[in-house]
Amino acid sequence: MFKNLMADNVLEMNIVSGFEMRQKAKRFEDEGHKIIHLELGEPDFTTPVNICQAASLAMLRGETHYAPPLGIPAFRSEIAKYVREFKGVPAEAKNVVVTPGAKPILYYTFQAFVKPGDEVVITDPGFPIYRVLTKFMGGKAVALQAKEENSFRLTLEDLVPLVNEKTKLVVLNSPNNPTGSIIEEGELRRMAEFLRDKDLIVLSDEIYDRLYFGEDRLVSIASLPGMQDKTIVLDGFSKAYAMTGWRLGYGVMHESIVKVFNPLIVASNSCTNTFIQFGGIEAYRGSQAEVEVMKEEFKARRDLLVSGLNSIPKVSCSLPDGAFYAFPNFRAFGKSSAELVDLFMEKAFISSLPGDTFGVDLDGYVRFSFATSRDNLNEALGRLESALKKVGV
Ligand SMILES: Cc1ncc(COP(=O)(O)O)c(C=O)c1O
Repeated sequence: MFKNLMADNVLEMNIVSGFEMRQKAKRFEDEGHKIIHLELGEPDFTTPVNICQAASLAMLRGETHYAPPLGIPAFRSEIAKYVREFKGVPAEAKNVVVTPGAKPILYYTFQAFVKPGDEVVITDPGFPIYRVLTKFMGGKAVALQAKEENSFRLTLEDLVPLVNEKTKLVVLNSPNNPTGSIIEEGELRRMAEFLRDKDLIVLSDEIYDRLYFGEDRLVSIASLPGMQDKTIVLDGFSKAYAMTGWRLGYGVMHESIVKVFNPLIVASNSCTNTFIQFGGIEAYRGSQAEVEVMKEEFKARRDLLVSGLNSIPKVSCSLPDGAFYAFPNFRAFGKSSAELVDLFMEKAFISSLPGDTFGVDLDGYVRFSFATSRDNLNEALGRLESALKKVGV
């Protein structure tokens, strides 16, 4: 109904998300099956209690009114301090934009920079929202394809041929959703050198950078020479602090970009929930011990899931460097991603996401989130193996 009244770009929006798959799984759960949920990118831990207390106290003392559109000043300062210390980006409070979840930073960036005909270079495999928003704005998505034989790690050589005078935005995501791969520091430095004189914006999605399983911290491209002004850093609290439902994120960018984001915020959500921002202040000021515990657990789950997948005949899965996703290759079974996801749901009662929604030429891949218990992962591996055995090759 009302299709004749609706805008074409809205009608063409088509997202296969974890939310949708969860609905599908519900049907099977209603029939009494025990579904193992590997579809949604959501930590199964509860938010650390000190963060909950800080937000509750803020609510009780009356922090229940509108906040400034760009965020509470003390929170913006706290974020800037964190970004300086953790990411090595010399940001100040005036560079920070607080949003309800990190996703609005994506939306505002595309709204502000992508005009019809513009090209957007998108990490591929990558978060489907980048592609959806490019199309929504009338832009052209250009796939920056990471190679499986290189553990899905991007190189400068992958990027160079894709950038031209039509390129307005380059979207990088390290660690990556759905592969968990990072861009190694040496490659990132080479990319920065290549990009810094180009007339374009880099959107660096760093939402998983605290969930990197390597020894050192990851380098932010915004910290490299000549890159801070042209980079919008996206980050937030959903993943590392198990705060998906709080909706709390932020972007760090040049002041001139903050200026154009401001009216977009006022016209859409006015501001981010006031007392929630006090939870965010506590998240960065308080003990980081729980974040480390969660990360170590994700790492153990990664090892369990990936070695289990690789021990199933004809399945291969590269080792994710971070985040909580595995992106196994089931191509030897000759089935599409959609068929595989249906098979896993109907025969193994495992809910997953089709790999081909994450980019170009990815049929035969599936994304599994390992943000669930080791018991569930062990059970899932057993069920997968027997479902695949029945299918054969
Ligand atoms: C790569 C990536 N960027 C951004 C987001 C958005 O995070 P939030 O839930 O804080 O909006 C997600 C969430 O799944 C993600 O995977």
